[in-house]
Amino acid sequence: MTEIRTGLGWDVHRLAAGRPLILGGVTVPSELGLEGHSDADILAHAITDALLGAAALGDIGMHFPDTDPRWKDANSLRFLGHAAGLVRERRFKIAHVDSTVILERPKLKDYRQPIRESLARTLSIDLERVSVKFKTAEGVGPVGEGRSAEAQAIVTLSR
Ligand code: C5P
Ligand code: MG
Repeated sequence: MTEIRTGLGWDVHRLAAGRPLILGGVTVPSELGLEGHSDADILAHAITDALLGAAALGDIGMHFPDTDPRWKDANSLRFLGHAAGLVRERRFKIAHVDSTVILERPKLKDYRQPIRESLARTLSIDLERVSVKFKTAEGVGPVGEGRSAEAQAIVTLSR
């Protein structure tokens, strides 16, 4: 019988001047970027946690502590690829990834395809299995005021 697992991921980082805005490994032109120890790719981080969650393998900080100098400015696709490898080692197939980035500006919809392609490539799955959505926070709260950005992800595994 097929075993189905789901995993949930969420991340938030501050927005700051002089930082790149990297989402799913794709650099989006923006006045403000995401602050963090690594490249602060909230989308890659949320999906990494969702993968780890579905396989009950802890969380991103357990595998890649943000106190470790090795991960300073790290490309977060490395974390994502590593998590995908861990779930595959346990014979899981990545059936689907759905995600939402919540960011007030800039508009992201023109970057949906390249972001999906980057994630699909990193996860070694078909493009059709990767969904990326965008929302504003309607001007409300820290995300709405442009002080931070968030990402949510849900991953379905089968085995
Ligand atoms: O948040 P809101 O409902 O106003 O978003 C409407 C649409 O705008 C979204 O469905 C998405 O396609 C797009 N969007 C975007 N970039 C953002 C936020 C929203 O392209 N940063
Ligand atoms: Mg993060």
